Amino acid sequence: MSFQIRSFEAYQKAWGKSQDTPDEFWRDIANTFDWMEPFSSVKTGNFQEEHVRWFEDGKVNITANALDRHLPTKAHETAILWEPNDPNESTRKLSYTELSDQTCQFGNALKSLGVKKGDRVVLYMPMTPELAIAVLACARIGAVHSVVFAGFSAQALADRIEDAQAKVVITADEGRRGIKTTPLKATVDAAIANSTFVESVVVQKVTGADCQMESGKSIYWHDLIAGHSTICPPEPMDSEDLLFILYTSGSTGKPKGVVHVHGGYMVYAGYTFSNVFQYEPGDVYWCTADVGWITGHSYIIYGPLLNGATTLMFEGIPTYPDPGRFWEICAKHQVNQFYTAPTAIRSLMAAGTEPVLRHDLSSLKVLGSVGEPINEEAWQWYHDIVGQKRCPIVDTWWQTETGGIMISGLGGLSPQKPAHAGYPIPGIHPVLLDPNGQEIKENNVEGLLCIAHPWPSMIRTTYGDHERCRNTYFNPFPGHYFTGDGAKRDEHGMYRIIGRVDDVINVSGHRFGTAEIESAINETAGAIESAVVGFPHDIKGQGIHAFVILDAKSIHLTVDQLEQAAQNAVIHSIGKIACPDRIQFVTSLPKTRSGKIMRRILRKVAEGEFESFGDTSTLLDPTCVDLLVSGAKQLKTK
Ligand code: WTA
Repeated sequence: MSFQIRSFEAYQKAWGKSQDTPDEFWRDIANTFDWMEPFSSVKTGNFQEEHVRWFEDGKVNITANALDRHLPTKAHETAILWEPNDPNESTRKLSYTELSDQTCQFGNALKSLGVKKGDRVVLYMPMTPELAIAVLACARIGAVHSVVFAGFSAQALADRIEDAQAKVVITADEGRRGIKTTPLKATVDAAIANSTFVESVVVQKVTGADCQMESGKSIYWHDLIAGHSTICPPEPMDSEDLLFILYTSGSTGKPKGVVHVHGGYMVYAGYTFSNVFQYEPGDVYWCTADVGWITGHSYIIYGPLLNGATTLMFEGIPTYPDPGRFWEICAKHQVNQFYTAPTAIRSLMAAGTEPVLRHDLSSLKVLGSVGEPINEEAWQWYHDIVGQKRCPIVDTWWQTETGGIMISGLGGLSPQKPAHAGYPIPGIHPVLLDPNGQEIKENNVEGLLCIAHPWPSMIRTTYGDHERCRNTYFNPFPGHYFTGDGAKRDEHGMYRIIGRVDDVINVSGHRFGTAEIESAINETAGAIESAVVGFPHDIKGQGIHAFVILDAKSIHLTVDQLEQAAQNAVIHSIGKIACPDRIQFVTSLPKTRSGKIMRRILRKVAEGEFESFGDTSTLLDPTCVDLLVSGAKQLKTK
């Protein structure tokens, strides 16, 4: 494709052009896609206005670009290569023709359920090709997909279904991950028990387990598609029409529905995939994320398919049946680009080098990392053992809200430095600000990472609450998009991401707001108040440390019982993935006279730093710090 960058000099030129003449830069890239009606303006509005729009008045459908556009040349090439959880089951391959036919057929099936352009459809599915088909089918007919990670609890699912006012939920009987199966349909049933919006539930048969199929509401996928045509023209969408909502955590209790649209998201996902991974025709690309997160949206489904790539989808987990599974899959399918999270790398590192070295990884060309800062040790292991010192690593920094990769090396072209995401993608202008909003021009100083100019796949709104979007991202530093991350820039202009500066904890690359975990814990019988902070965790990047105040009535319970109750409360309201690693029962929290919790003290205690708390004179009760420390010491020795 004409926007492919093939040298570091070409990258520098592209970045320069994107800054000097941004409209021209993005127009050229956008014009490499198929538009049903051309756009006349490239960008309208800026960060200070209520809305920024891209390619306005153009008509487009992302699936026409991800599927139809490739049919003349790639009809029989593999679009999706699916590797099942159980290595003894067979791989599935869907050619571009098959993926297109199945998408169209399922699109028609959704229409038969009354799904129309603009309607929201929630997907709560395992990592099967049907998940990709369902995503694409929604986009095909102009419905808005909202994928909810299949590890979320019924309550978390219910919150998302209600917020999106979804008409249809698509799920499976059960999901399989390693030796575990999860009852997905039963969870959906619990989630929609009181829903007034959901009219139909479509159920993919994965394990064949019995599930309750209430007549008139639930229908099996295979029954629904029977008899539907495989022809379904793509719905002409305005460039700014909604493509999807993806819920993510912020610093308040309620998850926010990040909204992306057809035009700008398509252009940016396609552009970044091709350049960051340096994908070449015939390559096999594998991103190990789950489609329940943004990485799966942009770099399992849309980015690769927009480029006519072969994208591998894996149903299982890295350690099943053994910790060599990732490498076995790489060798089996001759994977060329491999994209995973630091958490996975760290946990596989712990299994030693033998499971890696046992497989032939000579096909690998580019390795990627995403979701959290990668520590130097993990970077080195990834580079030396997995990449055999041959493969460049792209450490890709981005967010659900940014839609695509923002700061990253371009595989093999850019200089690389362990633990540094590196240089911005062309079109992206990062800046570091101090807390007063002044730009930090010096190098090697930590600042608040902001983006100075709009880009095509930027968040459009938070679903149903535009004010929240403005307040979170655009009002803190007028004229900038605020990322919520802290970063440093070195003397060569390379960025190193330090981590979140807000009340968001990143556990194994998954974001949780401290407030949402706290409100879950506060539901526990006996819990009066809680405060949750992150602490450095060897494998997960950050672990969750919860401080909980109990009422006097709980005294008859054992600590184990109380811990269990608090953990169950989190599992119930969010899911196992957000379960605290440590629960410390306390009698008071370090509060200022105005009642605000001094979280930096809690962070220090959780980190095991028991001295030099700085100025604690504004605390209502400074002695509470000693109690916190002695409690934490006991936890440690447990
Ligand atoms: C963090 C995932 C360091 C960061 C794509 C960001 C990273 C949050 C990196 C977004 C990276 C993501 N290095 N930190 N390469 N990539 N992060 O929305 O804190 O799930 O704000 O998007 O993950 O998480 P999200």
